[in-house]
Amino acid sequence: MKILLKIISGFTALLLLAALAGFLYFNLTFPKVSPAENIQIEFTPERLARGKYLVENVTGCLGCHSDRVPDQFNFPVKEETLGRGGFLFSKKLMGLPGDLYSRNITPYNLNDWTNGELVRVLRSGVNKQGKVLFPLMPYQHLAKLCQEDLYSIVAYIRTLKPIAYDPPPTHLEFPVNFIVKTIPRDAGPYPPAPDKKNLLAYSAYMTNATACYDCHTPVDEHGQPVPGMDFAGGMVFHFPDGSTLRTPNITPDKNTGIGEWTKDFFIKRFRTGKKMADLHAPVNLGEFNTFMPWMEYGNMTDEDLGAIYDYLHDQVKPVKHKVEKFTAAK
Ligand code: HEC
Ligand code: HEC
Repeated sequence: MKILLKIISGFTALLLLAALAGFLYFNLTFPKVSPAENIQIEFTPERLARGKYLVENVTGCLGCHSDRVPDQFNFPVKEETLGRGGFLFSKKLMGLPGDLYSRNITPYNLNDWTNGELVRVLRSGVNKQGKVLFPLMPYQHLAKLCQEDLYSIVAYIRTLKPIAYDPPPTHLEFPVNFIVKTIPRDAGPYPPAPDKKNLLAYSAYMTNATACYDCHTPVDEHGQPVPGMDFAGGMVFHFPDGSTLRTPNITPDKNTGIGEWTKDFFIKRFRTGKKMADLHAPVNLGEFNTFMPWMEYGNMTDEDLGAIYDYLHDQVKPVKHKVEKFTAAK
């Protein structure tokens, strides 16, 4: 009996040791990303202007990295929290595998990050401290920006007003807390700057930069995009009162998507969305409200909105998928 006990406890110790070795090996192997590079970024007026346009109107940085007014139309950004992070992307709201707080991206947090560290976090999702970000932070999209656009973003966020605030830590559930570490890669060479004369490439570039895909593509129970449903809508937001908001189908399907929309109507829809958002109209919990970034995209140029329209119309497969945008609580 004593011998049996000894064997069992020896075996258990071995198992624990193997688990520990596995854990250490895993943490030494991932993330598989090179150290940050040494990068000079000049703050030219052109760069700052381009960066402002991208950060405020295209890549959605400030909408996610600020706190939002909960009871006004389009959840406007609280001006005094611009860039300080702390917005909660929760399991309850979006079915995420944990609770994520956006981080402070004002110089209060980023001042002692090098340009190389900023470029690495934006393109590969690994921060200064080596922590891997959950890909809700759209680093996989940002990796497809050209060098000039990425540098412009870095230059511009360095000019945000510093706000002293430390958001609560992000908490991811097991096993996702391990899986996220296996995702980052070195982003590799930058793609060429988008050529506005090459409409096909330019429209794909702009659509990627805005990350429409991430909200307008439904995900399965593991958070993976459902195959064959690109841009077909159905991602769900659950409000605390039990009402639900779903993203609509923006594929060119004529009946259930935006196949019947003209380019002119599409662009005007963004302008009206912005006008509505600017009113900051009070909205009670349980009434229709939306996370569609109208207030940000609404200031994109006609050319860029037109390019996104072209992409959705000409390069996205029409999918028949009817979505009810809003369901009030019973
Ligand atoms: C869809 C929302 C969203 C958008 C859009 C977004 N972020 Fe983030 N970002 C997050 C979240 C959430 C985190 C934290 C993720 C985590 O904790 O795993 C984060 C983390 C970061 C970090 C890491 C900071 C730290 O201290 O570790 C930086 C820097 C950052 N984002 C910058 C940006 C910039 C610049 C843009 C625009 C180009 C941007 N983000 C766009 C949601 C977003
Ligand atoms: C943060 C998530 C999010 C992102 C990112 C997003 N959308 Fe939306 N979108 C929504 C939601 C939610 C709705 C439904 C509520 C509404 O109409 O405002 C919506 C509605 C729409 C509508 C329908 C408007 C109507 O009149 O029925 C269009 C068109 C649209 N989005 C296009 C886009 C495009 C193009 C992009 C990228 C440039 C984009 N969306 C990015 C969440 C998002």
